[in-house]
Amino acid sequence: MKQLRVGLIGYGFMGRTHSNAFRKVNNFFDLDYQPVLKAICARDASKAKAFAAQWGYESVETDWKKLIERDDIDLIDIAAPNNAHAEIAIAAAKAGKMILCEKPLAMNGPQAETMVAAVKKAKVPNMVWYNYRRVPAVTLAKQLIDEGRLGKIFHYRAKFLQDWTINADLPQGGAGLWRLDAKVAGSGVTGDLLAHCIDTAMWLNGNIDTVTAMTETFIKERKHTETGKMTKVTIDDASAFLARFSNGSLATFESTRYARGHKALYTFEINGENGSLAWDLHDLHRLQVFDYKDESKIRGWKSVHVTDGDHPYMKNWWVPGLQIGYEHTFVHQVADFIQGLQSGKMAGPTFKEGLATDYVTDAVLKSAKTKRWEKVKKVR
Ligand SMILES: NC(=O)c1ccc[n+]([C@@H]2O[C@H](COP(=O)([O-])OP(=O)(O)OC[C@H]3O[C@@H](n4cnc5c(N)ncnc54)[C@H](O)[C@@H]3O)[C@@H](O)[C@H]2O)c1
Repeated sequence: MKQLRVGLIGYGFMGRTHSNAFRKVNNFFDLDYQPVLKAICARDASKAKAFAAQWGYESVETDWKKLIERDDIDLIDIAAPNNAHAEIAIAAAKAGKMILCEKPLAMNGPQAETMVAAVKKAKVPNMVWYNYRRVPAVTLAKQLIDEGRLGKIFHYRAKFLQDWTINADLPQGGAGLWRLDAKVAGSGVTGDLLAHCIDTAMWLNGNIDTVTAMTETFIKERKHTETGKMTKVTIDDASAFLARFSNGSLATFESTRYARGHKALYTFEINGENGSLAWDLHDLHRLQVFDYKDESKIRGWKSVHVTDGDHPYMKNWWVPGLQIGYEHTFVHQVADFIQGLQSGKMAGPTFKEGLATDYVTDAVLKSAKTKRWEKVKKVR
């Protein structure tokens, strides 16, 4: 088996999901490559060492530039905050490394363009960790749509709701709360949460052409962790937009961190002339399916338990009826990335698809300011 020597940057939430995926993938998928956990890179050496010991990394770096210089690393995995993605990815591409990058690809579309140009020039395999595509129930939705079962699509509806920033005493910035600082995150819920909804939506239903949006920042000032001073909050706390897809369908998207009672309620529904599909992250192993072609007296919504051997990815796991969860989506992503290396046909979402999502979030944030419909830039 060929080695795929990984250098991971960032040991936070995503550093753990990725490490778990690299370790598990060969136990469950027959592949020609085996990820080898060569090095973990983070600025705090003692924390990085502890992470290396816990997850089985062979070495530690505290400067990502040193990691990229190493010739015993094949793949750079970027699990650091959003403002670090572009610089690292461009340097990694120049060094000829394969790159997996967390989402959103960049702080904005123009920055993402430079990343796409870099991987194109270097011809290096690349992928963005929009992992929800690889929830088996979501992949099943994609299969059913591609088989034409829904017919013409009229509506797409997505929400991503959380409630963890309601407390006005919560500070912004620093290691744990960089998501509240636009200088590090790029934007608030638009780039953080709606980016997921947009990636899934365009994968399932094609390009988004135009959007009109509203955003709100409910808490205007918060103490900044790094300075201790009350500072203006520059992220969007909530964001909602209407969209028109290229296929003529209409959409609504909504996200907030102020929906009391919701932790990570990502839902979507898609309505076509012959049927509808609905999915809910809190019940991620089920796909709700309505098929108008069913005999009318027994027609109704079916709740499909997506755990059978003929469901996407499921034959690689347990026996029918036993469900899998969130962390498995990352295992699937690594498996598909490696299968892409084997076949020469890169699995998505590539950096180009990550750029397409950044173009939509740019248009959403612009529309919230201009209060007009905005065209979404097309990826060339
Ligand atoms: N795919 C998903 O569902 C998903 C979920 C959460 C986060 N994310 C994305 O993953 C990325 C990381 O988010 P997280 O939740 O893991 O954050 P986190 O705060 O838990 O971890 C970030 C890590 O990056 C490290 N880091 C920061 N700057 C660095 C630098 N210059 N060099 C080396 N290491 C550095 C930090 O020390 C920390 O280990 C973000 O881009 C985020 O948007 C994606």
